[in-house]
Order: sequence, then C-alpha cells, then structure tokens
Amino acid sequence: MSTKNVIVALDIGTTKVCTLIAHKTSKSIEILGVGSHPSNGLKKGSVVNIEKTVESIRNSIEEAKLMAGIEELESASIGIAGNHIYCFNSSGVVPVKNKEINQSDVDRVIEAAKAVLIPSDREILHVIPQEFKVDNTVGIKNPIGMCGSRLEVNVHIVTGKTPLIQNLIKCVEQAGLIANSIILQPIASSRSVLTTEEKELGVVLIDIGGGTTDVAVWKDGSLIHSQIIPLGGNHFTNDLAVALKIPHNEAERIKLAHGTVLNQTQLNETYLTVQGLSGTRPREVSMGYIAEVLGSRAEEMFNVVREMILEKNLQAEITGGFVLTGGGALIRHLPEMAEYILEKPVKVGYPTAFGGMTSAMQHPKFSTVLGLLQESNKFSEASTRDEKIQDESDMFDKLGKSLKNVFKEIF
Ligand SMILES: Nc1ncnc2c1ncn2[C@@H]1O[C@H](COP(=O)(O)OP(=O)(O)OP(=O)(O)O)[C@@H](O)[C@H]1O
Ligand SMILES: [Mg+2]
Repeated sequence: MSTKNVIVALDIGTTKVCTLIAHKTSKSIEILGVGSHPSNGLKKGSVVNIEKTVESIRNSIEEAKLMAGIEELESASIGIAGNHIYCFNSSGVVPVKNKEINQSDVDRVIEAAKAVLIPSDREILHVIPQEFKVDNTVGIKNPIGMCGSRLEVNVHIVTGKTPLIQNLIKCVEQAGLIANSIILQPIASSRSVLTTEEKELGVVLIDIGGGTTDVAVWKDGSLIHSQIIPLGGNHFTNDLAVALKIPHNEAERIKLAHGTVLNQTQLNETYLTVQGLSGTRPREVSMGYIAEVLGSRAEEMFNVVREMILEKNLQAEITGGFVLTGGGALIRHLPEMAEYILEKPVKVGYPTAFGGMTSAMQHPKFSTVLGLLQESNKFSEASTRDEKIQDESDMFDKLGKSLKNVFKEIF
C-alpha cells in the first residue's frame, strides 16, 4: 500500500509505547495496525534512557507494521508530557489593516500574543487561540470577514524544555520515523474522550498514566488550562510494594486484581495471600490495608488537582465536572473518591470508537494514542487544503502543524 494516505500516531508513555497506523480518506480514518510494547526508558513522562526508549519504539512500530501489512513508514504524530511542560495564557492586540479582518490580521495578532519572554531553555509547542475580540465584541471564534479596527486574541501557550523535547524527537528518529507533529498528551486524550458539549460546558480531563497525570481544562470549546502532575499509576504500585514489602510485579498484580481506593468496613475482614520478597513466605494482608494505602495516594493526587483548580480560580468554569482517563483511571472507586474531594461529578472516560477500532482498544490507556491519530489526521488535512481558518480547531491545526516550524519562527 502506498504511504500517501497513511497516518501514524505514537504514544511514548512511561509504561508502554503504543503505535497506531491508519488509512485516511477525506471522510474517515480506518485503523490498520496496532503495536503496544512495554516502555522502559522513561520516568515521569520524560526520556531518561535513549537506547531503551528507541528499542521500545522500534518494537511497537514493528508490531503495528506487521499487523497493517505495511513495510515503510515516514512520519508520525507523537505525544508529549512530563513535568517539564509549562502552560500559560497570553493575549495580543493589533490594528486591522483594511477594515475587514483577513488571514494576515489573524496571523499578526497571534504573533503578537506569542511575543512573551520565554526562558532560553524552553520552546513553544502549541499556541492555541481561545477567543478573539473585534473592537468591543467578545467571544468570537473566527474573526475572518468581520469588520472592525482592532483585533485581539486570547491564547493558551504550551512550552517544554528544549533538551527533553529533543530527546524525544531523537528517539523517534533513531527508531526510523520523522516526528511531524508533537502534541500535548492531554490535548490528544481530550480529543478521543470528551464530547464537544462537555468542552463547551466546562470540563476537566484527568489522564492518569503510569508516570504522570495530565490535566486539561476546557470551557466554551477552548483549552483554558493544562498541567502535567508528576504522579501516576506507578506511584500507587510503588506504595503497595513498600507498604506490603512485596515485589513490584506482585504489587501491580494486586492493584489490578483487587485494588480499591475506598476502605469499606467489610474489607478489613477480607484477606489476600501475597507473594513476599524473594526468600520470604507468602503472607496474608487485609484488603482494608490495601485500600488505605491506595486511598491515601489517590487523596494526594486529587488534592493536587483541587489546589490547581483553586489557584487558577477555575471552580466556576467546571460545570460539566471531571473525566478520568488513562490506565490509572481504572482503580476501583476512583471516581467516588474524586467526587468527594473535587465536589463535582466525576466519571471514567473511554475513547470514542471509530473505524477499525477493536473492543480491546476501548480502554482508557489508549485514549492518548487514539486522540493523537485523530489530531494527526487534522494536521495532514491542513497541509493539503487551503490554509483558511474555518473554526477554532482548524486554527489549532494550522498553528501546531510542525513543531520545528514554530521553533524557527520564534528563535
Ligand atoms: N485495570 C486497571 N486498574 C488499575 N490500574 C490500571 C489498570 N490498567 C492499567 N492500570 C494502570 O495504568 C497505568 C498505565 O496507564 P497508561 O498506559 O495510560 O500509562 P502511560 O501512557 O504508559 O504513562 P504516562 O502517560 O504517564 O507516560 C499503570 O500504572 C497501570 O498499573
Ligand atoms: Mg499516557
């Protein structure tokens, strides 16, 4: 098959590297191949071992290629997270040149919003328009064709540390692919899990991965805040391993099979047999103790989210509540615990199905890679059509088209 209409998404996570290969038509995307391989070279979302990361990426790509029956791939959209990511809001204003606003006015006002001081070791990953203001009219999503003399824009800017971004790009290149776009992971997960209505109403996506928890806050259809919290499912497993004095893989097994974050009285009378560290005998531990250990980590995590919401003054914006996704979202009773701490409705978000998606893929741990594929489809569409902004999301396509282009423009 020719690679012309083939798109590839690569989610390089802390616990797994996942590759999706799909065929795109003008109307749909059809998944052809899936590869998922354990990831060994990342910590808290950042590459700490290039060799191991490259190997995981290669294996994941090979698996997907084999399934898709494709031998050569050129490029992929890749996700980025890690606690080096820093996001903030900015704004810009320009006079309109010819009374009627055109593409070049929009480009200029976004340039103006990007003109902020960024530390020399940081780079801009995304500049996402939230809303435009034409003279005194606010809340405009697409100002092109409108009349006015002054154009303003509010944008959300996502930055990351240059060396860590370059490490990620380097790993992808060494595995034989070009990183054609780099997309913030919670933006990708939001794409596959949240509905347009939820994003309009005001919703917080919490993607609980292995090494990080990625947060994206949406209101009126726009991304208004994003943050990466360096806490994930692995911390729950490590806590269990330490508290029960058991090996890490046994702690992971217990967490997946019996883990809950709510200690109910009857759990104190239920006992589980756990394998001890090598040389020690299996022991009995109460389910109540396991719930206590996992519960205190969950409490810590949701308190960090709560603090973030309070600090950014976002309480009033979140009418639609919170949506948990990522593999870590599946620990039992996590939504109940989150509801108690965050005082809003909370649910687990599963990726929305589309062409070629098997039921095995409808798991929260695949939200990011499925969203990356959908976002990457937008990027490739944007590069083949007229660069005309039709709506706010198209604007995001165009601006995020290539990380390298953005770097070139700014530095
Ligand atoms: N059924 C389950 N119950 C509880 N936890 C689960 C379940 N399935 C997966 N997990 C946990 O989800 C985490 C992995 O999630 P995910 O695959 O989304 O992470 P990742 O993308 O590799 O990491 P990151 O996004 O942090 O870089 C692990 O900690 C794993 O234990
Ligand atoms: Mg992830």
